Order: sequence, then structure tokens, then C-alpha cells
Amino acid sequence: MKIIAVVSAKGGVGKTTLSANLAEALAAAGERVLAVDLDPQNALRLHFGMPPQEVGGHARATLAGEPWEPSLYRGRSSALVMPFGALNEADRSAFEAHLVTHPGWLRAQLGALGLGHDDIVVIDTPPGPSPYMRQALSCAQVCVMVALPDAASYAALPLMEDLIRTYCEGRPDYVGHVLVINQVDVSRQLGKDVVQTLRAQLGERVLGVVHQDQAVAEALAYDRSVLEYNPHSQATHDLLRCADRLRQALAAHGEAA
Ligand SMILES: Nc1ncnc2c1ncn2[C@@H]1O[C@H](COP(=O)(O)OP(=O)(O)O)[C@@H](O)[C@H]1O
Ligand SMILES: [Mg+2]
Repeated sequence: MKIIAVVSAKGGVGKTTLSANLAEALAAAGERVLAVDLDPQNALRLHFGMPPQEVGGHARATLAGEPWEPSLYRGRSSALVMPFGALNEADRSAFEAHLVTHPGWLRAQLGALGLGHDDIVVIDTPPGPSPYMRQALSCAQVCVMVALPDAASYAALPLMEDLIRTYCEGRPDYVGHVLVINQVDVSRQLGKDVVQTLRAQLGERVLGVVHQDQAVAEALAYDRSVLEYNPHSQATHDLLRCADRLRQALAAHGEAA
């Protein structure tokens, strides 16, 4: 099992969009993929066409003391999805308290699914430090940081790198972190400058750039991935490239291990 956590210090940068579409792109490349939603917003499932009125998910299963399996969802996509599930406020507090007192919860739950050695798990997370982020970082082999090409995202990167240092680095199974710069608009000079600065600073750690593309928002409106909605869009092209580089990084690590 290879675990990828999609993370950022800031919200609204495209974590959920990238989690869903990278999962889809990895699955399209022949990988067996499970996308896990660790964000109480419970929005990842919508990218896979799960009906909004369905309330099931791992958080409800955990609180009920039940296993994850019955909550797995497979829509049209070849990737499997584990939704967060709908929780009221009291249950959300109880669930978060459970995550704090059970730091190995996610690792144990994923382990219980009996996934194969090469199966890939992509975890979507809420922004910034939280019990969810800690659970994801504590078992991730690769962290995909997401940033917009703007000053606020740039300024927030050190916070994310600090969290990664705290929870990932030093673990023997940890591979490393990479950055996806999302919503790049080539007609904007500031965006181009930030991309250039990040490439100079992070070098090979920049996994790729995903351009701003209205196909992304349209795809969600039609309950599907960008890859399915418009296979010829710029965003699809960018996502496939990012997924390809992720596969290479995971394969290189697999050989070295
Ligand atoms: N490459 C992109 N081009 C256009 N819109 C995008 C792109 N990536 C994300 N978005 C839009 O940005 C908004 C935030 O994305 P989301 O994935 O929900 O971010 P996060 O999970 O980080 O909060 C959504 O409306 C989404 O459709
Ligand atoms: Mg999100």
C-alpha cells in the first residue's frame, strides 16, 4: 500500500479537486486506487458522482464501531472512494476526540482493508493543522502539497513544511514531499513569477503545474472528474502529467526499498 496525502496550509487551493483527479488519473494508468476523504466537508465523493443525499462514510462507521468496507463507494470511476460521511456537530467533536486519542486510527483502518502492496491510497485533507491532517501525515509515504501561484500560498508553504517535518520525516517508510502549483493563469505575470520562484526554490520537488481551466469547475457541476468530463482539456493534460510523475516517484522508491 502506497499512501499519498494531499495537503496545504491554506484552504481553497484545489486539494479536493486534485485528490479526486489524481486518483482518477492514477486509476486510468492501471493502478488500483482508493481515494479517502478526511475532510468533514465530505466533498470528495461529489467528484465521483456519489449522490449528495447519501450520508455514509468512515466517520459514521468509526463512531458506530463498524468496519469501513460497507461505506466504500464505486461509481463510474475505476477508483474506489471512501467518503467522510455526514456528521452533526456533536458527532464531529466526538470523532475528532477519537482521532486525538487514537493517533494510529487511519493506519489501522487502511491496514484492515487488506489492500495490496502496490495499491495506492490518495487522502484528501482539510487545510492546516488538525487531527485529520495529523492522521494523514502520520501514515503518508508521499505528501503532495498544493499551492496557488500567489503570495499568500507562497507565504504559507513553510507552515506545511514544518508539519511534514514533524509528522513524516524520520519515518523509515517516508519518501518525501512534492508540490503541485494549481490554477496557473499564464496571462498573469505574478502567477508566472511565483511559478518561477517556486521552481528555483524546490527544483525537482515541483511535481507539476495545473492550469486554471473552466473544465475543472464544469466537471464538478456534472458530478465527474475532469478526465472524464473533458479528456482533451488543459487541466486533464496537466493532471495526467502529474500522475505520471507521481507513479515514477513511487516506482523508484519501490525498487529502492
Ligand atoms: N485548475 C483549476 N482550474 C479552475 N478551477 C479550479 C482548479 N482547481 C480548483 N478549482 C476550483 O477551486 C475551488 C476550490 O477547489 P477545492 O478543490 O475545493 O479546494 P480545497 O479542497 O483546497 O479547498 C473549486 O471551486 C474548484 O472547482
Ligand atoms: Mg477540500
